[in-house]
Amino acid sequence: MDKFLVRKSEPLKGQIRVSGAKNSCLALMAASLLTDDPLELDNAPDLVDVRTMTRVLANLGVEISRTASGGLNLDSSRARGLKAPYELVSKMRASYYVLGALATRRGKAEVSLPGGCAIGQRPIDLHLKGLAMLGAEISTSGGYIYLRANRLRGARINLSGRYGSSVGATVNIMLAAVLARGKSVLEDSAAEPEIEDLAHLLNSMGARVSGAGSPVLEIEGVSELSGARHTVIPDRIEAATFAVAAALTGGTVAITDCRPAHLGAVTCLLESLGVNIEKGETTLLVRGGTPLAPFRIKTEPYPGFPTDMQAQFCALATQAQGKSVIEENIFENRTLHVPELARFGADIRVDGRKIIVKGPCRLSSAPVMASDLRASAALILAALVAEGTSEINRIYHLDRGYEHLEVKLARLGAPILRVSE
Ligand code: EPZ
Repeated sequence: MDKFLVRKSEPLKGQIRVSGAKNSCLALMAASLLTDDPLELDNAPDLVDVRTMTRVLANLGVEISRTASGGLNLDSSRARGLKAPYELVSKMRASYYVLGALATRRGKAEVSLPGGCAIGQRPIDLHLKGLAMLGAEISTSGGYIYLRANRLRGARINLSGRYGSSVGATVNIMLAAVLARGKSVLEDSAAEPEIEDLAHLLNSMGARVSGAGSPVLEIEGVSELSGARHTVIPDRIEAATFAVAAALTGGTVAITDCRPAHLGAVTCLLESLGVNIEKGETTLLVRGGTPLAPFRIKTEPYPGFPTDMQAQFCALATQAQGKSVIEENIFENRTLHVPELARFGADIRVDGRKIIVKGPCRLSSAPVMASDLRASAALILAALVAEGTSEINRIYHLDRGYEHLEVKLARLGAPILRVSE
């Protein structure tokens, strides 16, 4: 198992390029099942989750290869498989995106239930409700979902759960509805940039999706889809993570190949704390160095403050000049980074849905353990401002969703080293 050794960093300086968005790429890959023509995805990040999705699709018979320019070629012309097995789905929940695509293309699917994870129960009731409303017959037994369907038919479906709209359910139902007979209306659908990116790809394949980026998606089903070439949008969470790293270390970092328009809630908050940010069309220049004001945030569906940046802002709050309050409203257990940040000496505690952080706090190095993808990033950020050398264990969590993060940070001057045990 690899770990990171991280020493207190000088202010980060330099430029980094943001990789393609994990949470878009996984959905786009599943769309390959909707056509026998080849699909080419440029800017597809090389991540563990993308490799797992590759295995899930290969298990169905999809032929996948990396292009010379680092993209992915996906060919489903000989794919006749119908099963996504437990050993793969348990590694990466988004494997369940094959459910909607297989339902509409093959009329049959056998997909392992994903189970929960460190940050919450993560049920998929909205996914199954939506597919049933499109006409699929669904049963579950032995930890598997069994789906049967003749040609799906369009329906009006509401995708809001107790925590607001569901990104995953919106993706799954989009993938199913594009080849259904008739029109579907997805109310309270997720409006994340990753949903827009999927709609963009589907329409370039011949689908008729409108309203992406708004809470109501309209999909006119078509009889077949063709191949396409598409560029995955930049990863807004990676870009935001680097912006926090610059603010935290008082550095000056140019973040390129990103989409500032996807980061409004994060850049607006950073500017309110005293961080200087210059925005271009595809670049962010982030200058830290002034004292950070404390803040209050609530995580919300897009365009609200993203839950995937909650842990990283807990690390930032340890250096703010006062008490910050971070409220997590999307996942019921996204607080496992709190006791680990406390090991660095942070004054941080959980109070119901709120995380209370008192700063500024002189952090000191400690061995800590990553519990999930974004918690890993938060621990690295804290270690960059902790006196001494910290050890961050179980960074396999990080490798799921950040492409060569330590290489990019080291390029900015961060004293971070990956050690393979
Ligand atoms: C996606 O997860 C992302 N993952 C998550 O990113 C992200 O945090 C999340 O959206 C919210 O933005 C991918 O895109 C692969 P949801 P997803 O369905 O689709 C509840 C990361 O770090 N819910 O929008 O699973 C659910 O339990 C990951 O990159 C139901 O109740 O999230 C949660 O509380 C973490 N029933 C809330 O809705 C359902 O059927 C939002 O979940 C589905 C979800």
